[in-house]
Amino acid sequence: MPQSAEPEWTNPLRDPHDRRLPRIAGPSALVIFGVTGDLAHRKLMPAIYDLANRGLLPPSFALVGFARRDWDHDQFADVVREAVEAGSRTGFRPEVWDRLAEGIRFVQGTFEDDDAFERLRATLADLDSERGTDGNHAYYLSIPPNAFPVVLSQLRRTGMADQTGDSWRRVVIEKPFGHDESSAVELNELVNSVFAEESVFRIDHYLGKETVQNILALRFANQLFDPLWSSHYVDHVQITMAEDIGLGGRAGYYDGIGAARDVIQNHLLQLLALVAMEEPVSFSPHHLQTEKIKVLQSTRNILPIAENSARGQYGAGWQGSEPVVGLKDEDGFAADSTTETFAAIALEVDTRRWAGVPFYLRTGKRLGRRVTEIALVFKRAPHLPFDDTMTAELGHNALVIRVQPDEGVTLRFGSKVPGSSMEVRDVNMDFSYGGAFTVSSPEAYERLLLDVLLGEPSLFPVNEEVELSWQILDPVLDEWAADGSPDEYESGTWGPHSADEMMSRTGRVWRRP
Ligand code: BG6
Repeated sequence: MPQSAEPEWTNPLRDPHDRRLPRIAGPSALVIFGVTGDLAHRKLMPAIYDLANRGLLPPSFALVGFARRDWDHDQFADVVREAVEAGSRTGFRPEVWDRLAEGIRFVQGTFEDDDAFERLRATLADLDSERGTDGNHAYYLSIPPNAFPVVLSQLRRTGMADQTGDSWRRVVIEKPFGHDESSAVELNELVNSVFAEESVFRIDHYLGKETVQNILALRFANQLFDPLWSSHYVDHVQITMAEDIGLGGRAGYYDGIGAARDVIQNHLLQLLALVAMEEPVSFSPHHLQTEKIKVLQSTRNILPIAENSARGQYGAGWQGSEPVVGLKDEDGFAADSTTETFAAIALEVDTRRWAGVPFYLRTGKRLGRRVTEIALVFKRAPHLPFDDTMTAELGHNALVIRVQPDEGVTLRFGSKVPGSSMEVRDVNMDFSYGGAFTVSSPEAYERLLLDVLLGEPSLFPVNEEVELSWQILDPVLDEWAADGSPDEYESGTWGPHSADEMMSRTGRVWRRP
């Protein structure tokens, strides 16, 4: 049975009243299942080291890897070191590494192997007493969802999920959180049968990005934008997550999942919730979640879905100056795969603030370039006291939050072209993180792993958010499933023609970010 822990998001090492102080994790061990996977290697191991290098992990911190490989502690530590040297953001310092390496352990076994879980329990008990991790354990399930049930039941069987005294036990899970609403409900029930909801940390790494958190600062720390932030001035909102990479090597995860399940269900709907939500009572996790949930509850598909959505699959083409193959010729994808690599949907948020404002969400692989942005596109001025020719080059005003790369905010508006005549053209006013701040932004996984160890749940979606997001997406997926194959688009372009048609029907166009 899950133990109902009080939501704990304070840390004895920091003054809870001073949020400017660095937040340092308390004594703890992080166990990673799936430690031989790509995510652990590219993101988790470098992030752990970067936290240590920034002085945000306690001296007693321990990292435990669990996998099938026949490694001992030292061999695993070598693997971690290699990943850190290749991927760390903050540079390699031998003295930091040596301290971290002292707390690295490896447990060999399969998920079905009861003895291996006994060895894991013994390893953690040793760390608790020898290194002082104090019974505080986070279990990171960086594993395929079909392995969740067996690992969770092993954690329950061995008592490793049980909190005792002041110690805590947490579980971290990675998407996909199910493949539709009913499987998400089932998954949530399973996880919550072992860990109380307060101890479940669902990773949506977009919420760990600085620019995504800046949406809250931009909206609620300023007076300037709020009066414009509604249907009075906003014509529509475009949320774009474009990637130029293809799916070579990822068939195992992606085939049958597709772009909508992969990123719209989670990253893009979370961005929508942050852009559309009302001011929270405070930034406490509960108040933030309450406002995001209200948005997701009010969000509907614009009907008919067939005309207000588009999906595509990349064919051969170009990535930069390199010729690339289409999805069906990538390793592991079948010649008749109907997996979409591009998805666009149109939503409305049924509230007083947003009535009548479409939110267009799109994502794709092998598009023109890698860019994620949120654009509020404003209505045209109701009256222009100029001849038509003077404003022929004037577009819509727009406020663009540039999530990545080139993180920042752009305001687009019309300005007089220098010269003796009156001609108005669009110009950009830019804020760029790189120019304004001297420190580089932490990686999303640094922030999120630290928050797991601190027990701060603000940046992790709760089960209700996950289920509501599926309620929004399921009708689109059903419509697509009943409607044949995705349209092909050439790699290096901005998606299928059907995506442009979906917009042109409403007299709008996609931005070319
Ligand atoms: C992941 C998706 O969640 O986000 C990937 O599964 C995608 O398909 C990745 O490539 C993109 O992340 P980022 O941080 O590079 O935008």
